[in-house]
Amino acid sequence: MKAIVVKPGEKGATLKDVELKETVGENEVKLRTLRVGICGTDRGIVTGKLSFARPPEGADYLVLGHEGLARAEEVGQNVDLKEGDLVVPVVRRGCGKCLNCKIGRQDFCETGEFIEAGIRGMQGFMREEFVDDAKYLVKVPRDLGELAVLAEPLSNVMKAYNELVFVQKRSVWNCDDSTFGCRKATIIGSGPIGQFFAMVFKDNGFKVTVVNRRDPNQIEDKISRVVGYSFVNTSKGLDDVPESDVIVDTSGYPSAFIPLLRKMKRNGVLLLFGTVGGEKAEITSDLITFFVEYNISVIGSVNASKLDFEQGMTFLSVWKSRYNGVLQDMITKVVKPEETQDAILEKEKGSIKTVIEWSK
Ligand code: BGC
Ligand code: ZN
Repeated sequence: MKAIVVKPGEKGATLKDVELKETVGENEVKLRTLRVGICGTDRGIVTGKLSFARPPEGADYLVLGHEGLARAEEVGQNVDLKEGDLVVPVVRRGCGKCLNCKIGRQDFCETGEFIEAGIRGMQGFMREEFVDDAKYLVKVPRDLGELAVLAEPLSNVMKAYNELVFVQKRSVWNCDDSTFGCRKATIIGSGPIGQFFAMVFKDNGFKVTVVNRRDPNQIEDKISRVVGYSFVNTSKGLDDVPESDVIVDTSGYPSAFIPLLRKMKRNGVLLLFGTVGGEKAEITSDLITFFVEYNISVIGSVNASKLDFEQGMTFLSVWKSRYNGVLQDMITKVVKPEETQDAILEKEKGSIKTVIEWSK
């Protein structure tokens, strides 16, 4: 079958014929790949920036792809799915040793011996078909269809949001009407992850500002109006950025979030999500004093549990009807497998999410 593969130490990705013999066990499902999203992690792997990328043990190549959407074609006898059901596979598989992995929270694996589809130690979903254990498959609600290709990136945002709310239980953080309506969140970056953070915070009552070092493009402008958040171009200064209870960085650039900390309120949270910015930054004692004196929590967050995927699916269904065409607009490009190489190597200017269509 055809697959997009990378070889350790080599830059770029190629469409190749691979042989992967997989039989369908009683708890497994054979899946036809429909769509796979491309993200910064894939770009980090093909440009050699993400040093942790590796093929499965014994293999000399890695099939890329972790943002999958597939259709069940053959269902094992113990599996509660039907032929034709759409599913999204979970990315990370646990070490089998630590308690977090044993209870399905491999996103908090303690040994670090987990594997991740299309990233480290496990073949990914950029291929025509694959077999997977049903416990790692999230069923797609009927109304969502191919928009469910957005579920994986959103699951990461769900987890990060849930963590933030958990950490903020350290004090009373709700407003005097019980909601989060008095709280303000500022999100750095207007890519898919930034947009999802904006929507999740907005739907939880926060006032939301998304910042970037440029003006919004047409699609971003539309999304900001439909969802109801402000977009601030920080290259013109920080005056329009409100004092915030939460600052989320999706860029991975310290030069983007450190200056913004001036806008952080007491008891606030700096949520770090972006990676591979490739910058060096200075941590001064003034900055440390600020973190201490203002009770700032800094949260790093990666990956997601199956529950976060399920919660994300529900949000996607709501947004599909609430935010008139916005999810569709976020998928700015659909490419064929043969066109993937270029799409992975460089993010097209003005694009939000590019997906590969493997089958309809
Ligand atoms: C994926 C996560 C994964 C992470 C690894 C992200 O792009 O969505 O599932 O854990 O990369 O850094
Ligand atoms: Zn991704």
